[in-house]
Amino acid sequence: MCGIVGYVGQQAALPVVVEALRRMEYRGYDSAGVAILDGAGEVRVEKRAGKLANLEEALVADGGEAGFVGTTGIGHTRWATHGRPNDRNAHPHVSGDVAIVHNGIIENFAPLRAELESAGVELVSDTDSEVAAHLLTRAIESGGTAGDFVASCRAVLARLEGAFTLVFSHAKHPDVLVAARRSTPLVLGVGQGEMFLGSDVAAFIEHTRDAVELGQDNVVVMRADGYEVTDFDGEPTEGRPFRIDWDLEAAEKGGYDYFMLKEIAEQPQAVADTLLGKFQDGRIVLDEQRISDQELRDIDKVFIIACGSAYHSGLVAKYAIEHWTRLPCEVEIASEFRYRDPVLDRSTLVVAISQSGETADTLEAVRHAKSQKARVLAVCNTNGSQIPREADAVLYTHAGPEIGVASTKAYLAQITANYLVGLALAQARGTKFPDEVAAEFRQLERMPESIQQVVDSLEPVREIARELADSKSVLFLGRHVGYPTALEGALKLKELAYMHAEGFPAGELKHGPIALIEDDLPVFVVMPPVEGRGVLHSKLVSNIQEIKARGARTIVIAEESDEVVKPLSDYFIPIPPSTTLLQPLLATIPYQAFAAEVAAARGYDVDKPRNLAKSVTVE
Ligand code: G6P
Repeated sequence: MCGIVGYVGQQAALPVVVEALRRMEYRGYDSAGVAILDGAGEVRVEKRAGKLANLEEALVADGGEAGFVGTTGIGHTRWATHGRPNDRNAHPHVSGDVAIVHNGIIENFAPLRAELESAGVELVSDTDSEVAAHLLTRAIESGGTAGDFVASCRAVLARLEGAFTLVFSHAKHPDVLVAARRSTPLVLGVGQGEMFLGSDVAAFIEHTRDAVELGQDNVVVMRADGYEVTDFDGEPTEGRPFRIDWDLEAAEKGGYDYFMLKEIAEQPQAVADTLLGKFQDGRIVLDEQRISDQELRDIDKVFIIACGSAYHSGLVAKYAIEHWTRLPCEVEIASEFRYRDPVLDRSTLVVAISQSGETADTLEAVRHAKSQKARVLAVCNTNGSQIPREADAVLYTHAGPEIGVASTKAYLAQITANYLVGLALAQARGTKFPDEVAAEFRQLERMPESIQQVVDSLEPVREIARELADSKSVLFLGRHVGYPTALEGALKLKELAYMHAEGFPAGELKHGPIALIEDDLPVFVVMPPVEGRGVLHSKLVSNIQEIKARGARTIVIAEESDEVVKPLSDYFIPIPPSTTLLQPLLATIPYQAFAAEVAAARGYDVDKPRNLAKSVTVE
């Protein structure tokens, strides 16, 4: 997830573009950059690692507006995917007269890069994005129709796979920008004699409230006095014009009251992006791998270490990793791990999960594991952070920046990435046939659609939340992967609503916690999918009967077709069908929405709960 902006008009482009980048910084702050076309055939680029302030300093040092004359410009704030966050990998990427900015992942960048290198092109960054700039230069140079700037952009787009928003500029065509989108956002702002581009409307809301949402696989050619939308083949199509009625603050939150709600809604994309490019030539591929296949085959034990929600994602992963790889897998809270002298050696794989990549407890546990010669694989959302730097292999979750302190989209992306780790291990060790690995991956690929269905039907959950907002305590029950989901549900409620909440394995209830049940106590239960109905399902039905008999109010998350459990539910929250292992990707979402709504009803700050920090860098 990165922020994209563009401007063609009458004003000096630099301040317009920089201001737009400030509005886009919530989408990424690994680096920022601008390219301004001077109108006389030159393009001037400035880019810097780190926050926008670093870029602004560099711009001032280079003459500010006077040094960057021109009324056409593009800009980018980066959340790194391919390549570390540094100056070299910052956007715009330049090739001769061409400067481009990109959000998304070009899945086939490796063969494209190889093709360019074998043709003698020197690539200066480690990004997937830079290939698009060089491909465009080559398409223009190859003459004929391809010599036309706009047609050449289309020719390049036809060669790209993956998800991308791209803005192309050319120094010799300073009156035009060409932009395209596939599976990542892009909105057009229509002003008087000026046009804007943004990843969302916050980029240009100060200048115009007339916007056009671009559809999937749309290309827009924009000039100061107008724009035209086509598909990738050049056939005319139409965007969706709309009027923006949000204020600036609401625009940054996508119209939601809190970032957390926006991030809940972004979960289908976060999961889809985490899967992008991870299955190539019939194999699961990690982002960085400094562990050989032979070393993976020699692994005889897996430890997962993490904190908070990341720890819960690890608990979910244990079920899949043991099932798929037949390796014993233990999941540990990172702050406990190194102090109890765990048995580690070079045939131990330690999987460290961390959204921030900076959590001190997890980092110290990684260092301890490495000192004992264990192999470390990091699952992380922040490229270039400390934990992936120190790991032997890395798989990035592509959730983009998460602003809400309580994890939502990063959590679902972690579960997804953890499953990819399990499949990569099963593949290396031969405990699953290649067609079985492929089938599991295809199932994962279908999940964003089901996640979207859950996201689209959360209003009844919010109603329940408002009704139960005064409760003193809430319990969460589940079996199998429903157990860590219960823990995550309870954590969300504690973090956000400051309400006593506990998650239990449903079977453990009768060994103590059942004493807590009293009249009207809300108890959430996740039912296993109908597909897995059997012992697990019937045992849970018995557990629900036990608590109902003692006066609890039951709130049941289950598949719509689960008729058995409906009569036992005071509230019934339907979710789409899935396999048992993939169900946490669906069942967690009502818990997130419930906690956020209870917090809001109690008047608490949903994005910044008291006493909590997004990233905890002390032990
Ligand atoms: C903090 C956050 C939690 C998060 C945990 C682990 O406590 O408040 O939401 O789950 O850290 O963070 P990490 O960045 O390592 O995933």
